[in-house]
Amino acid sequence: MLDLRTKLQELAALPADRPMGMPGAYYTSQEQFEWEKSTVLRHGWHALGRCDEIPEPGDYFTVQLLDEPLIVVRGDDGQIRVLANVCRHRGMPLAEGRGNAKRFVCSYHAWMYGRDGALLRAARMDNAAFDSKNCRLHGHNIQIWNGFIYCNLDGDAAPFGEESAPLDQMLAPYEPESFRLVHVAEENWHTNWKCLVENFMEGYHLSVVHPRTLHGYTPTGLARKSVSGPGFTSYCANYPDDIPSRGDGAPGLSDAERQRSSLFARFPTQVTSQAASLLVSICIFPISADLIRVKWTMSVYGDDLSDETIEARIKLWEEVNKEDREKLERMQIALKSQHAHAGPLAPDDYEGTIRDFQTWLAQEDARHGAEAQAAE
Ligand code: FES
Ligand SMILES: [Fe+2]
Repeated sequence: MLDLRTKLQELAALPADRPMGMPGAYYTSQEQFEWEKSTVLRHGWHALGRCDEIPEPGDYFTVQLLDEPLIVVRGDDGQIRVLANVCRHRGMPLAEGRGNAKRFVCSYHAWMYGRDGALLRAARMDNAAFDSKNCRLHGHNIQIWNGFIYCNLDGDAAPFGEESAPLDQMLAPYEPESFRLVHVAEENWHTNWKCLVENFMEGYHLSVVHPRTLHGYTPTGLARKSVSGPGFTSYCANYPDDIPSRGDGAPGLSDAERQRSSLFARFPTQVTSQAASLLVSICIFPISADLIRVKWTMSVYGDDLSDETIEARIKLWEEVNKEDREKLERMQIALKSQHAHAGPLAPDDYEGTIRDFQTWLAQEDARHGAEAQAAE
């Protein structure tokens, strides 16, 4: 694994005009995955979903983020909280799937928790050491950005700040927080989490992998690198001039902004496509070196799109995701080969985002490596 970490530093230090990809083991080694889990993943901000998935008090959904089962719930005060989905008695998960709950009642011995995680009742607890105040569900660190809910398991990551101003500026004209949710779906993909980030974020494959679904709108040849910075990257998938309008979106958008999808990643695990009328985002939940849970959401701007158009867009994205998944799952097998060497990357407009991701991973790795060493 040290070899892979050394390799990552070497590649990140290459001159900008000769970028290279990482070897297959970087994406298939379970040891590497465990290291990432305890460092870059545990430390990062992870998108869990959209605020309007849970519009009413008591609305909740559950997710598994690394080793942590979570309940994402809206409280009586209207605040969104991310609670540990682990009973304080003996560890049973309290909720599954999604729904609305007045209280969370454990299915094992019926301890009952409020929507804010406070323990409200525990029957027959005649134990001198028992104090319900010490039995709250753990509340994780969260932040809301552009209508997305993010969680940090470590509890010590700084919220997004000035450093992501270029991304904020790029997205602001689209009014991302005004988008309303129309679709949520989840499935497991047999791929490495980094492979999906890279795949979603490069325009090099668009015309090859998606000849019927995307090529007509976002051909590879029109892909252009866009803003990047600490913890994010982006590119513009521009539409040809002659395609029909895909919806007006926010009034402040320029014609150029209406004629493209802005694809961005918030590292480590969120990838998103922001267009005038359509916002599609994937939350990646890494499970093992070669397995992820994919949760994707689709949101639309106001009433821009008719119900039929929304249905058609959902179908289109299902097809696009299927095309990507098929490629990634086949590649995951080949990446185990001893001959899966690092290859050269395409120029910035096509694969510069992969290079940004690599650079960020290398910086994070070096920082966590130094911390681990200092702790020894
Ligand atoms: S484990 Fe939840 S009440 Fe016992
Ligand atoms: Fe794709």
